[in-house]
Amino acid sequence: MHSVDPTTEQMIRSVLAYAENRLRLDPVPLDGCRRDPAEFDALLHGLPGEEPHNPDQVLGAYASVLAPGVISADSPRFLGFIPAAPTKAALLFDMLVSCASIQGISWLEASGAIHAENLVLRLIADRAGLPGSAGGCFVSGGSAANLSALMVAREVAKRRAHAGQRRRFRAVVSADAHSSVGNTLRILEMDALTVTTSDHRLTGAALRAAIEADGDPSSLAAVVATAGTTNAGIIDDLAGAAAVARDHGLWFHVDGAYGGAGLFAPSIRRAFDGIEHADSFVLDPHKWLFAPYDCAALLYRDPALARSVHRQDASYLDVIHDERADWNPTDYAYHLTRRARGLPLWFSLSVHGARAYGDAIEVAIRRAGEAAAEIAKRSYLELIREPDLGIVLFRRRGWAPPQYTEWADRLLADQVAFIPPSAWEGKTVARLAFLHPHTSMELVRQILDRME
Ligand SMILES: Cc1ncc(COP(=O)(O)O)c(C=O)c1O
Repeated sequence: MHSVDPTTEQMIRSVLAYAENRLRLDPVPLDGCRRDPAEFDALLHGLPGEEPHNPDQVLGAYASVLAPGVISADSPRFLGFIPAAPTKAALLFDMLVSCASIQGISWLEASGAIHAENLVLRLIADRAGLPGSAGGCFVSGGSAANLSALMVAREVAKRRAHAGQRRRFRAVVSADAHSSVGNTLRILEMDALTVTTSDHRLTGAALRAAIEADGDPSSLAAVVATAGTTNAGIIDDLAGAAAVARDHGLWFHVDGAYGGAGLFAPSIRRAFDGIEHADSFVLDPHKWLFAPYDCAALLYRDPALARSVHRQDASYLDVIHDERADWNPTDYAYHLTRRARGLPLWFSLSVHGARAYGDAIEVAIRRAGEAAAEIAKRSYLELIREPDLGIVLFRRRGWAPPQYTEWADRLLADQVAFIPPSAWEGKTVARLAFLHPHTSMELVRQILDRME
């Protein structure tokens, strides 16, 4: 299994040929044929089992049975949830990272890889206007990043509380914060002071009013603002939220997992003003910075605080913490072993240049605006709000939830688009998430025509 024998040679040829073909797909088709587990089992004929199989036979099973059972998130027809659109450069380099078995824990083991990752983190921090001392690491996703950041926020509050006093801390969050924030609070045994606003955008004024009306403000540890809500792409009033957090001595966390990439788009950069005050900031390159899964950038204004919370100590780890250790990514989140998942982004950014990223992000923002205008023109449709980023919410007048589901199912069955319905203020709505720069207005018109 570990030597280069004829079977290995065969696999190198076959798997690389398959990967090459996948890379050359332009556009990537949607696929997504859903089967029951029993159906998959029957088609896989007992793979894997105790006995070996010819690698081409196994690859064939993947190609014919398993791969079509996946909806391609990187297809320009994928407009659901938050799509993906990794660059070819990033995908290629991801393969290289896999082949190189880079253990991204520590400077001792992987200084070259970590240096490259840190250059990318620096570039993101500069876009956000964070100080030169800011730093962090790449983790698997926005959920892991939110959890790691709020662990630090809670610890900082704990240290500030009266010695020996055990208490349950809370975070001020908007009702539109991502589900992972709620999950994080539950895991950390924290509670939410939830702020609801009529237009779903957390403002400094609403935040201040909620804190001032609260009966137990000393239990608050953090303010969580979102730079691009998942459902509607709304950027909270970051400057206002930052000022309130500062006035109340609270940790200011900005979840830009989806929308943070908008920092690279000059047309909307101003909407992010205030982000430079973040104590912690999350941006998922596997969403809108065109990196492959899984890749989330986590930055702290004061990395030493994060290190004091996340650093793992053990006799076998002493060596990674010696004076020659410049930067250990393990110290900035709750992980130890980690893939050097920032490297594909470093490669792609270096090949294409950051300006090309901004241009590609602007395409999705423009497409969302054009789609909103097209929706507003059609009398059978109702635009819910003008998009801030790449997400458009709208209604088909007169439709009940089953009609949205039928429409979405038919679009997928016909391989036109993947657009699972969402909800807005308790009612089912249609939602288009633009991210891939090759999603065309022609496709949008086709999708809307099918609602008539
Ligand atoms: C605003 C926001 N935060 C956090 C997350 C969670 O990120 P992940 O799915 O990478 O864990 C998402 C995912 O869509 C998101 O949109």
